[in-house]
Amino acid sequence: MSKRILVTGGTGFIGSHTTVELQNAGYEVVIVDNLSNSEAKVADAIQQITGKKTAFEHVDCTDFSAMDHVFKKHDPIDAIIHFAASKAVGESVQKPLLYYRNNLVSLMNLLELMKKYTCQNIVFSSSCTVYGQPDTLPVTEQAPTKKAESPYGNTKQICEEILQDTCNAESWLQVVALRYFNPIGAHPTTLIGELPNGVPANLIPFITQTAIGIREQLSIFGNDYNTPDGSCIRDYINVVDLAKAHVVALNRMFENKKKSNYEFFNIGTGRGLSVLEIVDIFEKVSGVKPNYKIVSRRAGDIEKVWADTTLANNELGWKAEETVEDTLLSAWKWELKLQKEREKKQ
Ligand code: WQD
Repeated sequence: MSKRILVTGGTGFIGSHTTVELQNAGYEVVIVDNLSNSEAKVADAIQQITGKKTAFEHVDCTDFSAMDHVFKKHDPIDAIIHFAASKAVGESVQKPLLYYRNNLVSLMNLLELMKKYTCQNIVFSSSCTVYGQPDTLPVTEQAPTKKAESPYGNTKQICEEILQDTCNAESWLQVVALRYFNPIGAHPTTLIGELPNGVPANLIPFITQTAIGIREQLSIFGNDYNTPDGSCIRDYINVVDLAKAHVVALNRMFENKKKSNYEFFNIGTGRGLSVLEIVDIFEKVSGVKPNYKIVSRRAGDIEKVWADTTLANNELGWKAEETVEDTLLSAWKWELKLQKEREKKQ
């Protein structure tokens, strides 16, 4: 009998790629999504890739009674992977209450329902933003968390604290928090990928939309940082590699290999690349030079961060496999596919 996994935010960018890998690994998946930042047709695309159906519940995780109904309907649920959250750094500065309510209430609802329905495993989508600007790089899991640079980052820190405190109080709870670096790219089938709502907040979709002509020009937020070329450095990880890390985390739980009931891991490549380097690599793999200009720094940006991935390599037996060249090419192929679909509709 396959284990049943509830994936909140399962039609989103990382959630959809993780659902594919879960089904490929033999897990049964129930997707819960409020479709605030994704589309229901993603569930059909997932089925096209894996040949397997997912149950889909159009529910908001902050709605306790609706979530109670989902748990009752799909009981027993063996584990949860919790992606559903608001995730735009800039937007969180403008709308902090929306971020605190959405990101904190959804997690608290899940934990209460996990107790009620005796579901003891949760993998939590955390972020390298919990580190702020690390003092030393690459950053390890032992680095101290610093005051978050944005309400978004703060919600990730608070969620980790809620999980840690609940683990201390409830011995049945098993948690693995995955601290993502910068997820990018698209599935090799180009059936799923990143679908930003409106003007992209993140670098890669802005680059591909500029290259395809949707956006006039990419603004590069500052080249006066203390980095080799002056632009910010990040650790860009392929979304399929990231998705596979969730399967490995689940397997670890079901095989009782965990060393404590609250574990957390950096999920990155271990390599830092600057914005200008990314633009150069994109040009090399796509043959298109995105039009860009240097503008002033973006509030909330940290200067440089990349992961020490030793713990995930050793404990999870996981490491990133895809090159940044192949990953940027997958993002470009996805953008070309979206363009073709737009042209068909005209
Ligand atoms: C990357 C670099 C920008 C856009 C955030 C969250 C993280 C994750 C990914 C959810 C920065 C520069 C960007 C643009 C630019 N969230 N940039 N022009 O801020 O590192 O991470 O999103 O999964 O948790 O913290 O990602 O892609 O926005 O920015 O110059 O139009 O690109 O300044 O240096 P970020 P990003």
